[in-house]
Amino acid sequence: MSTTTNTPATGAKKDTRIVDGLNLVLADSYALMALTHLAHWNVEGPDFFPLHKAFQEQYEDLFEAVDEVAERVRALDAYAIGGLGTLARVAQMDEFKAPMTQKDYVAALVVAHEKVVDDATRTRDQAGEASDLETQDLMIKRLQSHEKTLWMLKSYLKP
Ligand SMILES: [Fe+2]
Repeated sequence: MSTTTNTPATGAKKDTRIVDGLNLVLADSYALMALTHLAHWNVEGPDFFPLHKAFQEQYEDLFEAVDEVAERVRALDAYAIGGLGTLARVAQMDEFKAPMTQKDYVAALVVAHEKVVDDATRTRDQAGEASDLETQDLMIKRLQSHEKTLWMLKSYLKP
């Protein structure tokens, strides 16, 4: 990126790593949203009601997130990726199939959230290096949400 500008957003616009990172987080979040839907629809067993409801809250959060991340890409004067095939190809998210046990859905979603956390952390750090505080702030917000969800999912798995 250019270090000669004193306008962080302008500098960030030239840093393709940030746009690529945001598009990766966008793809990850979309893939995670689809997997969370899969779990929401197909979970069964004694914890059906709380898990069905929790998975709904999680995919609703992700639905808002993908829009925010995509619009941040546009604010950086780049283009957001989209389409299920493209999003799946970019995300490279490990998928799971229903039916599974309640615990297996939760454990699989933990793995998926951790992938998003890895990619959002990298994008947060790249945005920080580029002084793109707005992207950094968005990634921090996303990380806070994923960390909270991970805490809840992992708590469910405790014996
Ligand atoms: Fe539903």
